[in-house]
Amino acid sequence: MTTPIKLAVVYYSSTGTITEIAKEIAEAAEKAGAEVRLVKAAELAPQSAIDSNAAWAANHAATAEVAVATPADVEWADAVIFGTPTRFGNVSSQLKQFIDTLGGLWAQGKLADKVYSGFVSTATTHGGQESTLLALYNSIHHFGGIIVTPGYTDPAKFVDGNPYGTSHVDAQGNNPVGDATRTAARIQAERVVKLATALKNGLGA
Ligand SMILES: Cc1cc2nc3c(=O)[nH]c(=O)nc-3n(C[C@H](O)[C@H](O)[C@H](O)COP(=O)(O)O)c2cc1C
Repeated sequence: MTTPIKLAVVYYSSTGTITEIAKEIAEAAEKAGAEVRLVKAAELAPQSAIDSNAAWAANHAATAEVAVATPADVEWADAVIFGTPTRFGNVSSQLKQFIDTLGGLWAQGKLADKVYSGFVSTATTHGGQESTLLALYNSIHHFGGIIVTPGYTDPAKFVDGNPYGTSHVDAQGNNPVGDATRTAARIQAERVVKLATALKNGLGA
């Protein structure tokens, strides 16, 4: 009998794009048989900054009930999918701050041998999707984690075109998450569940 995997989807989103992709990934992973925790990195920005942007304020309110991620979520998980908007081609400080709280688990070797993957959104087409995902994946090497990317493992990946992870161009809020991104999210979720399940059951055998 195959033991199902536990998946943590840990994301940060200001204006809601990454929230949408995170939900799609969580739903697809559940359908693929994983037990899923969808958790958000804690907000670091002052309330005045959030209130200055209607989309940010709306996403902040809409996700108020989403649990704030803790290291225990990563310890619990067999696989972790991280999501972040790009910040000058890099990981958002909010998600990075969460990653930096994992030092205690790292020191105990508890981040190793898990499957990790990432997703991203940018405002512009060449705005740093790949650099952000590669920067995120730097940390996974230090964890001793196993990075599972979508690659071009499905014909639909030639539509969205990003083998590093699901990505979306939001065009400053003018391009909501649509079919191509949702399909990429599902492919990534299913692939992470498939390989994490194989790893969990293979190592456990
Ligand atoms: C400080 C800051 C830096 C950003 N840097 C970039 C960037 O380098 N390239 C880009 O295309 N978009 C950049 N953006 C835009 C966001 O990454 C983009 O709109 C993203 O899709 C927002 O995701 P969210 O809706 O989940 O917050 C930046 C936004 C902020 C606030």
